Amino acid sequence: MLAAPTGGNLQAWAFVAIQNPRNLKLLRAFAPGIIQPPPLIVAACFDRSRAVKNDGTFWDEGLLCVAMAVENLLLAAHSMGLGGCPVASFRRESVQALLELPKHVEPLLLVPIGYPARPLASPPRRDRSEVISYEFWGNHDATRG
Ligand SMILES: Cc1cc2nc3c(=O)[nH]c(=O)nc-3n(C[C@H](O)[C@H](O)[C@H](O)COP(=O)(O)O)c2cc1C
Repeated sequence: MLAAPTGGNLQAWAFVAIQNPRNLKLLRAFAPGIIQPPPLIVAACFDRSRAVKNDGTFWDEGLLCVAMAVENLLLAAHSMGLGGCPVASFRRESVQALLELPKHVEPLLLVPIGYPARPLASPPRRDRSEVISYEFWGNHDATRG
């Protein structure tokens, strides 16, 4: 997870691993999409204190670095026979308070990790010919251009 690429090597991320069943249950109360309490939830956060530009504004691209770290986490879990899912729909203020996050640490994704209830098939995706162009927009013929 921490090997993910990060713009300017800012590493403006922070993670909280929640395993205590009581805390998992509480956290789930603020994230209705998490159906059953998993054995582990990783709260992936953006640490704004590490992403301040000279003019005082924030380097919001840091959000992408957190997403990359989460993808690494999902791939690592998958490689160990575990399953995970990024969850963005949760009550931010409540999670912030529950995890005692300082103001500059913003929870972006909750990632429940656990053993899959059943073997998972490859997820359906839009056809590559619809979403990938070659050389210029709309050219779906890789030999042309
Ligand atoms: C940024 C992001 C936010 C997501 N938020 C939620 C969420 O709040 N609740 C949820 O059930 N799934 C969430 N997901 C999972 C997606 O719904 C899921 O990846 C998508 O439906 C495709 O399913 P698949 O990855 O199994 O193919 C999120 C995924 C991403 C990338």
